[in-house]
Amino acid sequence: MKNILITGGAGFIGSHVVRLFVNEYPEYRIVNLDKLTYAGNLANLKDIEDRPNYTFVRADICDYDRMCELFAEYDIDGVIHLAAESHVDRSIKDPFTFARTNVMGTLSLLQAAKNRWNGEWEGKRFYHISTDEVYGALELTRPDGAAPYGDEFFTETTKYDPHSPYSASKASSDHFVRAFHDTYGMPTIVTNCSNNYGPYQFPEKLIPLFINNIRRGKPLPVYGRGENVRDWLYVEDHARAIDVIFHRGRIAETYNIGGFNEWKNIDLIKVIVKTVDRLSGNPEGHSAGLITYVADRAGHDARYAIDSNKLKRELGWEPSLQFEEGIEKTVRWYLDNEEWMDSITSGEYEKYYTEMYGGR
Ligand code: NAD
Ligand code: TYD
Repeated sequence: MKNILITGGAGFIGSHVVRLFVNEYPEYRIVNLDKLTYAGNLANLKDIEDRPNYTFVRADICDYDRMCELFAEYDIDGVIHLAAESHVDRSIKDPFTFARTNVMGTLSLLQAAKNRWNGEWEGKRFYHISTDEVYGALELTRPDGAAPYGDEFFTETTKYDPHSPYSASKASSDHFVRAFHDTYGMPTIVTNCSNNYGPYQFPEKLIPLFINNIRRGKPLPVYGRGENVRDWLYVEDHARAIDVIFHRGRIAETYNIGGFNEWKNIDLIKVIVKTVDRLSGNPEGHSAGLITYVADRAGHDARYAIDSNKLKRELGWEPSLQFEEGIEKTVRWYLDNEEWMDSITSGEYEKYYTEMYGGR
């Protein structure tokens, strides 16, 4: 494979995947296709935008004719599909946009790939990036002990049981990808990953939102009692897993990717508060008073926890960072890159797109 289409490369995880592929594979042509929704930010890729093996294309994955043109124009033989609407709270308010992009957009991309490859599957690959949220919620059977907070984990054979409009749309897209393998023989792979954290995450998600609010002395809205559990993985470890699976993963397989790193939200939030205070030179406890319990998210899944042993066993991938190290690196990055965060929270980053593209 030489010409790789990465969708959603201007977003959080996508920008790390694009950077890794551009750096590691100078012999490939990396085409980053992104619509630049509110979550897409080309500032995430400033360090690699001038590389000869990198091309950016602004397009909407739902635009089937445009997808067909692009597959032909760049002679695409590998796809790593990350473009999606990704925030659960937004999906609760606006489910249509999630069905459009995540379901219809994925279908349009699959159909364009099928049209271009025309049954010649040799050397082709369609790799779809998905989430552990499609599996639904696990019970907290050991809520008061140390992690793991329950006896069960999501494995590759766990039945799909999505609860939010976001996870329902991702589940649907996963089914379409598998259907294209089963029906037409397209070489597909699906991976389901746990919560990512790290640099360049849009500050609507828990970790960057809270770092930003602490910095600005604003309240930290904890949903419900803060007892929900998530399994956190450093984003560069996810990008590394994607590299390994794209090149060596078995066709038609599913791989779960996770950190074996469960945290109750409230415990994680306390670590974030402590770390931001320490690295900002504030006395211990300075920002603890910002923690504010608010109404719970509708349909809030109790616990996610991934069993990623299959990936370890088959392809030797494991998370490289301990959580303490990852969170320290992450907080430090946001504090060292205040202008990145400020340009988003002030809306300044919109001006760039308006000048370049006439708005979003
Ligand atoms: P993100 O919201 O940061 O980025 C999504 C990107 O997709 C943005 O650049 C956006 O402009 C682009 N996009 C949205 N709609 C588009 C469209 N119609 N056409 C073209 N581009 C479009 O998301 P993220 O957190 O980086 O997640 C990337 C992928 O990984 C998603 O598929 C998500 O479901 C999956 N995932 C995310 C996590 C996580 O913790 N963030 C965990 C597991 C899986
Ligand atoms: P989030 O980062 O939105 O990821 P996801 O919902 O995909 O897991 O949220 C992580 C957890 O933090 C989730 O249990 C919801 C909770 N949360 C809050 O308590 N307050 C907030 O302001 C946000 C954004 C999330």
